[in-house]
Amino acid sequence: MIHGIKGVKDILPDEIRRWQAIEAAARRAASLYGFHEIRIPIFEVTELFARSIGASTDIVEKEMYTFQDRDGTSLTLRPEATAGAVRAYIEHGLGSVAGAQKLYYLGPMFRHERPQAGRLRQFHQFGVESFGSPSPYADVEVMSLLWRFLNGLGLTELTFEVNSLGDATDRPAYKAVLVEFLKTREDRLCGNCRRRMQTNPLRVLDCKVPECRAATEEAPRLTDHLSPSAREHFARVTEGLSMLGVPFVLNPRLVRGLDYYTLTTFEVTGGRLGAQNAVGAGGRYDGLVKALGGSETPAVGFAVGLERVALLLPEAGLPPAEPLICVAAFGSAGIPVGVRVLDDLRRAGLRADADLRAASSLKAQLRHADRLGALLVAIIGDDEVAKGFVLLRDMRSKAQEEVPFSEVVARVSARLHSPAE
Ligand code: HAM
Repeated sequence: MIHGIKGVKDILPDEIRRWQAIEAAARRAASLYGFHEIRIPIFEVTELFARSIGASTDIVEKEMYTFQDRDGTSLTLRPEATAGAVRAYIEHGLGSVAGAQKLYYLGPMFRHERPQAGRLRQFHQFGVESFGSPSPYADVEVMSLLWRFLNGLGLTELTFEVNSLGDATDRPAYKAVLVEFLKTREDRLCGNCRRRMQTNPLRVLDCKVPECRAATEEAPRLTDHLSPSAREHFARVTEGLSMLGVPFVLNPRLVRGLDYYTLTTFEVTGGRLGAQNAVGAGGRYDGLVKALGGSETPAVGFAVGLERVALLLPEAGLPPAEPLICVAAFGSAGIPVGVRVLDDLRRAGLRADADLRAASSLKAQLRHADRLGALLVAIIGDDEVAKGFVLLRDMRSKAQEEVPFSEVVARVSARLHSPAE
């Protein structure tokens, strides 16, 4: 027997209601905020990710699924979708297409990480990217969308952490100050952080190793090294969040694992998730469109990990399943009539099913209907056909009534949609 791949999960029918509810809420939220769906490919040329996410990030260094196409081109399964969205934005000139600057996407991403609860190798994201506005209110718009989306699903115990990484001019000066500080603590840092000191020193602040956290407790803060304009931008963002009643905490250590960020960064964490506690994250990336060959275009966005949302989603947040009627038909006259009644019900827009696996007894069919959660069962045997009615059974009260064939659809429709009757 061939097994699925480690960290790559099937989403089975008993989990699907959860996923469909999350996806429907994502589409609804994105649409309410004026975002339009974009569907971008699952694989792109490797260079796109290396140039946007950053060559010295964990994702590009060790987590990408990269392979050679038949002509030797290096391709990569997308580890995230911001890079692809930016590529599509530039390639199709979306900057000048009405309504195409605010995009959202849903779909699978691929990272070769060590699988554990909430961390997979194929996982799913809902993300938005807002292009063209340098306004702090564009940050506030995507941040409030993220918060309201998670809240709307009934997720609680979430923390919204925000930080500013400064603009492109703030970073080099801060990096120099930070590296000076880190050198004084080098012997207390983990091997990974010692290496990062050279390649990507800001990431040291984000290290989860307790000794590293302790050693960098007093590290200089980027927020103390912001240019006046970056400081102003951050003040407007935090004021905007307060004005809208989005609760947040400042986290000067929030660095993020992707290199394209400038100014605002943020992350929503869920207390109940354990080590993999980031539910969603994002930020501004004003330099990326230009770096990938487009014109100077400010942008801001986020992505939410849907597996983590699914883990946190309370059962109460799920919409009830549509009511179901089953048809239980038996006998040489009953079965064909049952098939026709089933078709009539479905054509009338009612969710209807029958056990077609084998001509089984009425008892077995009622058991099957019960397992499917049917509210009603239409019983049709040879006797019923001869008399011209079906026996409509209420699965909770077990009461049965005779309904003439011509009235079945109307009667079932009324009963299913007023279940208290
Ligand atoms: P990210 O922080 O790499 O950002 O991922 C966003 C979210 O995806 C995480 O908060 C987490 O919930 C989920 N996630 C990441 N890796 C995994 C995994 N291996 N298994 C399960 N879930 C995972 C980005 O991807 C950026 N593109 C976000 C963004 C959009 N920034 C600006 N625009």
